[in-house]
Amino acid sequence: MKSEIEKAYGKLNLALEVLGRRDDGYHDMRMIMQSVEFSDELTVTLNREDRWYAASNLRYIPSDDRNIALKAARLFFEELGEKNVGVDIFIKKNIPVCAGMGGGSSDGAAVLRALNRMTGKPFDAEKLRSIAEDLGSDVPFCVRGGTVLAQGRGELLVPTAPLPDCFIVICKPKFSVSTPKLFSRLDESPCRLRPDIDGMINALEAGSLRDVAQRMFNVFESALSPAKEIEKIKSAMLDKGALGSVMTGTGSAVFGLFETDSQALDAVKALLGSYTDVLVTRPVKALEI
Ligand code: C5P
Repeated sequence: MKSEIEKAYGKLNLALEVLGRRDDGYHDMRMIMQSVEFSDELTVTLNREDRWYAASNLRYIPSDDRNIALKAARLFFEELGEKNVGVDIFIKKNIPVCAGMGGGSSDGAAVLRALNRMTGKPFDAEKLRSIAEDLGSDVPFCVRGGTVLAQGRGELLVPTAPLPDCFIVICKPKFSVSTPKLFSRLDESPCRLRPDIDGMINALEAGSLRDVAQRMFNVFESALSPAKEIEKIKSAMLDKGALGSVMTGTGSAVFGLFETDSQALDAVKALLGSYTDVLVTRPVKALEI
């Protein structure tokens, strides 16, 4: 039985703007997305018994078709038109759930990449991206990762210059907010401020970490009530020398960008006094498909 290990990288939103609600219930977005080294690890094994099963080191990760990794496997073989096949997936979950770090989306994308390789690359990057679209709005980004301007529902992707290398501290407070709920709160009271996304693209082009960090902004922070805990984490990061700090996606993880490892480690130490989910990671560049 063929088996491969694939990493599913975490995702962060360096900037996030919601442009408005669409007729299909989704929202048009404009965001700069970034993948990071911190990852889940998936073991993907083919079987010839039409058995579709997912297991994880965390008990609450579903083992049936509610699992996006398993859905990705089924969709892949549907598109390939191959029957008499099944997939077993083991997910070593590291990325915190309900964090805004795209853990589930990235697991789905990792399965698509692994299966494409294991079956002799029948699909090109564009086709994999279009399969990913049916799995969720963030999954197309997660297939390739890197630093990207994402628009539409999140599926229209334009690569930007990469985020300059840096140390990224991520802290996930215990609370989480449902994604649809946060979207509807923003519909009711839209955020008056907007991120300078074009400025951020220019800063990426210029390779200026400082200018990127200064433009980090997420409109979802305004829809959180209370946002006190998010503000507390941001202040702790900035106190320790972060060039910028912001919540990712619909939260509740907050991250900060640091120039040096010693500043990042100081921030980790300070945050560990109040939080358990604290980690330091680095940006990753786009993957070859
Ligand atoms: O696409 P995905 O399944 O990740 O989206 C989860 C939910 O987030 C959607 O059901 C929708 O309520 C909301 N969403 C949205 N607009 C987007 C992406 C997600 O309203 N662009």
